[in-house]
Amino acid sequence: MKGEIFNLFETFVSENFGEETFENVYDASHPKLSTQDPYVGPGTYPDSDFFTLVTEAVSQLGITLERAAYAFGKYCFPKLVAKIPGYIDQHDHPKAFLLTVHDVIHVEVKKVFQNAQPPEFSYEDPSENELVMIYRSKRKLYSFAEGLFEGVAEHYGVPIKVNRTVISEQDGICRFELTFGTS
Ligand code: HEM
Repeated sequence: MKGEIFNLFETFVSENFGEETFENVYDASHPKLSTQDPYVGPGTYPDSDFFTLVTEAVSQLGITLERAAYAFGKYCFPKLVAKIPGYIDQHDHPKAFLLTVHDVIHVEVKKVFQNAQPPEFSYEDPSENELVMIYRSKRKLYSFAEGLFEGVAEHYGVPIKVNRTVISEQDGICRFELTFGTS
């Protein structure tokens, strides 16, 4: 996972729960982390470090992993958009934008962030106000993805209803059925 995401996680926890909370989370996680130095944006670090920090934060804050991942996804969306300016403004509806995430956005991400491994998405387009995105990643960050969808909805001012079905827990395959314009 890119250092960029670790840094966003630090600002997310610090802004919402205070810097001291993040320091406590970091200190408690430190012995289990593979990296003793601070995470830097361009670096790439083991996913396990990210999950160690998230698990510790969730346990200290007494919130569920699902809720934390969703809130973090929603928080990340505008910050990620700012990393590759010019792409989101090319579209005036969330569906048009989401259709570019696999072939354009995450392809660009891999150029900008060396060694980035964003998830794979394939699509089905059943009707004008619906879109199916099939997610595949061993990280299984389903709630994080749902938080990002909420970020997209807020950006365009178009509500997105999300229906999630896990296809393979083992392989991390999940089907997101999206309906636009219904709250
Ligand atoms: C301009 C918009 C976006 C940018 C710049 C962006 C960028 C990134 C970056 C840098 C990562 C980290 C990859 C790594 O650490 O190796 C990531 C991961 C991810 N992205 Fe995107 N992303 C964007 C939009 C989206 C959208 C709309 C979705 C749809 C849900 C999405 C789904 C995900 C997920 C779920 C991950 C977590 C990694 C995983 O599950 O394996 N992204 N993205």
